[in-house]
Amino acid sequence: MSMGQFTVVGAGQMGSGIAQVAAQSGFQVCLMDLDEAYVQKGLKGITKNLARQVEKGRMTEGEKGEVLGRIRPTTNLREAAGKADIVVEAVVENMQVKTDVFSQLDEAAPAHTILATNTSSLPITEIAAVTRRPEQVIGMHFMNPVPVMKLVEVIRGLATSDEVYHKVEQLAREMGKNPVEVNDFPGFVANRVLMPMINEAIYAVYEGVAEPEAVDQVMKLGMNHPMGPLTLADFIGLDTCLYIMETLYDGFGDSKYRPCPLLRKYVKAGWLGKKTGRGFYTYG
Ligand code: CAA
Repeated sequence: MSMGQFTVVGAGQMGSGIAQVAAQSGFQVCLMDLDEAYVQKGLKGITKNLARQVEKGRMTEGEKGEVLGRIRPTTNLREAAGKADIVVEAVVENMQVKTDVFSQLDEAAPAHTILATNTSSLPITEIAAVTRRPEQVIGMHFMNPVPVMKLVEVIRGLATSDEVYHKVEQLAREMGKNPVEVNDFPGFVANRVLMPMINEAIYAVYEGVAEPEAVDQVMKLGMNHPMGPLTLADFIGLDTCLYIMETLYDGFGDSKYRPCPLLRKYVKAGWLGKKTGRGFYTYG
């Protein structure tokens, strides 16, 4: 089976990044979102990223046009799934929304289509269970910013077949990424390790151990992290960080994953990080 037709559902930051990388890797891409405005916003971000590549002399104007020409925007899920060899879902991190999308994809996609989710921590097995093809459902967790980060966590649900796993691993390589095999437990590996570190950094601020700038400096200069944990939390979105901590806490029932009260407070205040202009830092 060739993966010629690549559909991405959800044109937000992650979905548009995945669509960009897939188109740059030569796939015919269909980028779908519910609202025309979201699809256009996603395309605008991709165009801007490609323009930067042209400015840096890494891509010609002609190549940029070819990449954009491989991305077909749509607001029709049925049409987006109808001819797809693979669908990567990158909609909001909400189980009800994801299972709705997967039920619809299962109805609309041909029998051979692999249905992947870019979820950062929700159970693949539970998402797969709403379809009639759980052996063809898998996690494909890209990191933000997708065009830059090399990792794809490839997550096997309980029923994912070996054949599907190997196809997706190969696909990630064709997209220039390094796939890493992971089993389906809360937070997988990336967020099981990353989020408790971010949560602990927030506790350090909450308990008055240090100011946010100081916590970030320690981790940047002391551990060579490209961004300090609080800058990274603002970049990921504090609502997403809280959601992932809740998923770990609920999934393991272990108090070591309790979200910091300061994180809850910021989210309740609408201080969600870079996207709302305020989190641990302010953005102009
Ligand atoms: N889209 C595309 N390219 C981008 C980009 C974006 N949003 N942001 C930065 N870049 C590119 C820049 O164009 C630049 O490219 P060149 O080197 O080719 O010129 C390169 O990335 C470096 O950018 P900058 O020089 O502007 O800044 P930087 O050196 O600080 O790097 C960074 C930016 C790559 C984001 C770096 O700070 C970093 O690696 N941060 C950590 C990111 C991280 O941890 N991501 C994982 C988050 S967790 C997650 O995604 C999973 C989850 O489930 C929550």
